[in-house]
Amino acid sequence: MDEMEHKDLNKAAELTAKAQKIVVFTGAGVSTESGIPDFRSPGGIWSRYDPELFTYQYFMSSSQARKKVWAMLRETFLQFHAEPNAAHKAIADLFAHGCLYGVITQNIDGLHQESGIPDDFIFELHGNMRRVKCMNCDQLYETERIKNKLFKEEIPKCDHCGGILKPGVVFFGEVLPINVLEEACYRARNCDLFIVVGSSLRVYPAANIPKYALEAGTPIIVINMTPTYLDAEADVVLRGKAGEIMSRIVKLALEKKLS
Ligand code: APR
Repeated sequence: MDEMEHKDLNKAAELTAKAQKIVVFTGAGVSTESGIPDFRSPGGIWSRYDPELFTYQYFMSSSQARKKVWAMLRETFLQFHAEPNAAHKAIADLFAHGCLYGVITQNIDGLHQESGIPDDFIFELHGNMRRVKCMNCDQLYETERIKNKLFKEEIPKCDHCGGILKPGVVFFGEVLPINVLEEACYRARNCDLFIVVGSSLRVYPAANIPKYALEAGTPIIVINMTPTYLDAEADVVLRGKAGEIMSRIVKLALEKKLS
């Protein structure tokens, strides 16, 4: 790490040490070190699958479409047995020290929950893969409990009414869960530090949320391997791996807090 990066890391640790109501906003880049590919990096999911497959209209359009979507989910999100990595654990450390006001995540992998942060501190803007829902009778199923059904049936159907089963994720063209979105925006407006980790900030309305913190005059830290639209307005931009950077910032910050 060069001199400049060292200075930025220290500035980020200072801001984190002072903050009591930190919001961390995460994207797929926070889970790549757990073995889950992100979407837009080279080799990411959208380099292997057509994003058009992931529109609500397409999924609902035909059984052929649903066959394709479920096949893609079997090869990706239903495959991963990922564990939280150093970045997730660093964010969980902030929670353990009482200075985390919330995690706003675009991720559907549930790794923030697995790192020990309770559900009521996590705002999943794009839903999650933990549950599957019948589009006809609203019956909810735990994905883990019906995994062999999801792998056996080309187009999984509801056991109760035979209706279409849809994964608990938000497809393109689908409305985000309004109560989650509203609370996420509220926390972005009312936090005292906003940290973006591992997101290209290219998908809306999620990518708008950091702007609420910006408009409130809240310090912003961006940790990402590649540039984002927010870099120019952020107080600190750290280019590099989320796991290493987040753990160094939180370690330094907690030492300052406790000193
Ligand atoms: N450390 C830091 N940054 C990383 C790492 C890492 N280990 N790995 C990847 N990144 C960065 C990439 O450079 C990229 O800018 O994380 C970002 C991930 O961006 P995307 O793949 O676009 O993922 P995300 O921002 O979460 O996408 C948002 O788009 O396709 C939809 O619904 C999907 O929730 C997703 C949304």
